[in-house]
Amino acid sequence: MKTDRELKELWIKFFTKNGFKRIPGYSIIPENDPTVLFTTAGMHPLVPYLLGEPHPQGDKIFDVQRCIRTNDIEEVGDESHLTLFEMLGNWTLGKCDKKAMIKLSFEFLTSPEYLNIPKERLAVTVFAGDETAPRDEEAYNAWKECGIKDIYFLPKENNWWALGGGVGPCGPDTEMFYDTGKPKCSENCSPACDCGKYLEIWNDVFMQYRVKNAGEKAVKLDRPNIDTGMGLERTVSVLNGAKSVYDSGCLKRVIDFIGTKAQVKYEESLQATRAYRIITDHLRSSVFILGDARGVVPSNVGQGYILRRFIRRSINCARNIGFDAKYFTDIADIYVDEYGQDYTDILQHREFIKEELLKEVDKFSKALEEGHKEFEKVIQGIERHKEFALKNGEKVDNKISGKAVFRLYDTFGFPFELTKELAQERGYSVDKAEFDEKFKEHQEKSRVASAGVFKGGLADDSKQSARLHTATHLMLAGLQKMFGKQVVQKGSNITPERLRFDFNLDHKMTKEELTQLEDFVNDAIKRAIPVTCQIMSLEEAKKEGAHGTFTDKYSSEVKVYTIGDVSKEICGGPHAENTSELHHFKIVKEESSSSGIRRIKAILD
Ligand code: ALA
Repeated sequence: MKTDRELKELWIKFFTKNGFKRIPGYSIIPENDPTVLFTTAGMHPLVPYLLGEPHPQGDKIFDVQRCIRTNDIEEVGDESHLTLFEMLGNWTLGKCDKKAMIKLSFEFLTSPEYLNIPKERLAVTVFAGDETAPRDEEAYNAWKECGIKDIYFLPKENNWWALGGGVGPCGPDTEMFYDTGKPKCSENCSPACDCGKYLEIWNDVFMQYRVKNAGEKAVKLDRPNIDTGMGLERTVSVLNGAKSVYDSGCLKRVIDFIGTKAQVKYEESLQATRAYRIITDHLRSSVFILGDARGVVPSNVGQGYILRRFIRRSINCARNIGFDAKYFTDIADIYVDEYGQDYTDILQHREFIKEELLKEVDKFSKALEEGHKEFEKVIQGIERHKEFALKNGEKVDNKISGKAVFRLYDTFGFPFELTKELAQERGYSVDKAEFDEKFKEHQEKSRVASAGVFKGGLADDSKQSARLHTATHLMLAGLQKMFGKQVVQKGSNITPERLRFDFNLDHKMTKEELTQLEDFVNDAIKRAIPVTCQIMSLEEAKKEGAHGTFTDKYSSEVKVYTIGDVSKEICGGPHAENTSELHHFKIVKEESSSSGIRRIKAILD
């Protein structure tokens, strides 16, 4: 039996022994990235380093990174999908020795001191080659030398890794699967198949290429890298021979807790199993989002919208199994106790997390009331239409259109099943086919929105983005000078065209204040101050008064960017070399972002 913690400790021990330096995990809400809502992989916050920025910890690093992926949200509730997972990652920067990495992966997986998986239980896939990159014989030979027999060559669709949207560093990968021992589902059964025989646990990406702009061809990187990621929950469940990722560790404790309060038992039916698992998964993601130092709350846009969906979907599932949503706070406690040890921001925000969960439960009950009213209007509409049609000798079905059902779902959070039930009680049917169509369209839209197109932000190392980044530091310094040190960054999002910056302030900024802030930044630009970067321990950085948000208990060496006597911030970079490169700073908008949070959009012209 292995726990999450034991696996993390083995990971730390193994990579430390092999000369890798540990780096802290990042926030679940990406910084300076306009295109994705959440940190989706361990490499995501490391893009600048994968594109050549030197890392303060050197060129061999590893971490534990919390990630959220919503593109498979409909799959959650099966055996292996989760919206949040912890990724064990390691990187070799500037060098791509495939054989060495595969040997390390093999050792970690099979050595009795580490995971002790029999090599017969491992299957691997490697890139089959296409017009961009050749067939990966090097990876194939390395696995063969390790004694792996089950090796599959697969195309780009399976064995090429890039960020959502396909822009940024990328390359062929080799994926490692645990063979559950189930019989092959067909002659063609392979790790590419989702019959459940093979479970992916680890992925080594050979980042030898880069796509600079959407639609462009991948070009070779001068300094290639290796990026690897192991799914913690999946690996633990495999090591424990658990039925699913939900049937071991902390997730199992939550399933068990729900079981003590719900009317319907876990595994009583497929629907009940899914409901238990969705609540377990979605509330864990909600705890991580609400607990994040960047302060996201449920809303109708961006991360807040996804958070709202997580909570509301959990409420629906709770209703299906007769589980009172007031117990969500007990589930939050289980998660805070478990994860607060590693992620101090979650621990600090325990009460906030619970309050926000209950607020959303309350709001949703109200939305349901509104939805009921809307439902009545829909019925009345049909009745009127029927009367009118009857007069003209036409026949009308007692059917609620899929469009109306979808509106109830989308605007009022009315689950399809609920509308169907209510309709049946009144002698109506619902147009499921049309609803499904609308739902699919919507899903497609949100998939695109959540996967994002990765341009600008971190993947963008253009000079203009670096300048805007420096302007952001100057602006925060100005805000702190004007309103006090308690003003901190709550979010930052940079495209090559503009910066967007969120910070806490209790009032709308006046015209005079905005001018004062612009003058402050422009004055620093005129003074042509050099921007310098130093590497130091987090302790030293704090002692020197460097500004930064700390969300992880574990920390190491950090980069501190200093702009003369104006600003000192912990930050990954890149930045302008001198403030004079910024030319002229102009605020184009100041508005409310959420309660107590202001948002500034500004440009350099
Ligand atoms: N970035 C790679 C992944 O997420 C390791 O699978």
